[in-house]
Amino acid sequence: MVKKAQSVFVCQECGFESPKWMGQCICGAWNSFIEEKSLPPNLENDARRRIAPSVASAGAGAFASASPVKLSEVGHGAYERLDTGLSELDRVLGGGLVKGSLTLISGEPGIGKSTIIIEAAANIARTSGNVLYVSGEESEEQIKLRADRVCGEIPDSLYLLAETNIELVTSAVAKTNPIFLVIDSIQTMYSEKLESAPGNISQVRACADELMRLGKANGIPVFIVAHVTKSGDLAGPKIIEHLVDCVLQFHGERSQDLRILRAHKNRFGATSEIGVFEMGESGLHPVENLSDSFLEGVNGAGEGAVASAIYEGTRPLLLEIQALTAPANIGFARRSAIGVEAARLNMILAVLERRAGISLINQDVYVNVVGGLKPEGTSLDLAVALAIYSSYKGVPIGVKTIVIGEISLTGDLRSVRNAERIVREAARLGNFDRVILPKKNAEALSGLIEGLPLIGASCLNDAIQSIITLL
Ligand code: TYD
Ligand code: MG
Repeated sequence: MVKKAQSVFVCQECGFESPKWMGQCICGAWNSFIEEKSLPPNLENDARRRIAPSVASAGAGAFASASPVKLSEVGHGAYERLDTGLSELDRVLGGGLVKGSLTLISGEPGIGKSTIIIEAAANIARTSGNVLYVSGEESEEQIKLRADRVCGEIPDSLYLLAETNIELVTSAVAKTNPIFLVIDSIQTMYSEKLESAPGNISQVRACADELMRLGKANGIPVFIVAHVTKSGDLAGPKIIEHLVDCVLQFHGERSQDLRILRAHKNRFGATSEIGVFEMGESGLHPVENLSDSFLEGVNGAGEGAVASAIYEGTRPLLLEIQALTAPANIGFARRSAIGVEAARLNMILAVLERRAGISLINQDVYVNVVGGLKPEGTSLDLAVALAIYSSYKGVPIGVKTIVIGEISLTGDLRSVRNAERIVREAARLGNFDRVILPKKNAEALSGLIEGLPLIGASCLNDAIQSIITLL
């Protein structure tokens, strides 16, 4: 029986549904409601049910008699993982793809989402069984062209489907019985049960719901590609971020070859881990020796360039910070930061002014973390401050000095977590003469690191003083 569609109003920001149009949503957004048709619930065949495999196998009747199980009696078997054949992707996922998990991978157009996924799909098809790659954006020939470039020999068990109808995708899954399913992209998919256009909020949600049901009921890991808006947010409802198990973001500067994959949410692993790839002629290749890639340019650098380090996930990463100050035109001075939060930069500038007596009020300030990385921690603070100082005063800090430390509002330096591993990595690379770091870290490490002098600084002024005396 075909049920009659009803009208609802859905907030485009948060996905909240209301029977009436509202000027402001409960999430605070204004004029964000659009009218959509929704189907009344059908309990016998409810596509919204997100059931676990154990319940699914009990059949439709299980819904009426659903009974809780004891947590102590639940087994661990459900978390079997599939190796994607890409070490950096496996690392970000927490050790491979979990069966039945739903993963969202987002990023700007052209960043390499389809490339990384076809590589993983071919690897899994080669080693583990049927893989179904559904594309709503490209034709089968286009996908084949890419696969020829990046996958080597294409396994027979890799199936393609150029389709946007989610019901047809469901029947293709039943036919091919894949162990891995890819949807490229969620914004092109639609359900014929709804009248709205693909990419629309309720379509995206209905399709994500259906994919969740497909994945969980059959134990298939599902990868969903999603577009982002210009500001970097996910296009479509935020609600699918809550629905899925992992949210991965792929970013980097398109003009450069490095691509960084980061998990913003991961129900099966840590979110601090990053994966780094290099885009080449034959697709994306994992980069395991991170510091070499991000420090490339530092060797010839002069004023305004500083080497620094962060600790991402389970690895230290050495990188280069660049700053430039230039006299501002009339009006407000510009502040522009790539890879450093604007609020953090403003704080560092305020501390430089109040605690170190360096007034940058009539200076434009530009800061860049080289390589397109957006580090989350605060261990780069001191390096950013010294890079700005170096550019403003025209004093090169020297490429052989690593600077780490968090700056507090009082101008004091707070210690950095995992400083020992950062310093050991610097010592291993062997291209550095010294490390400037918070005094507490330096004290804790004294005598532990051979061949790399540590200069402890208790406040920003101390750190500035130490670079002046080095000149
Ligand atoms: P693609 O995976 O299609 O991006 P997305 O799916 O995120 O939109 O990648 C497109 C870009 O990657 C394109 O600009 C060309 C480049 N590229 C390479 O440099 N080498 C390659 O081997 C491939 C397949 C793509
Ligand atoms: Mg694509």
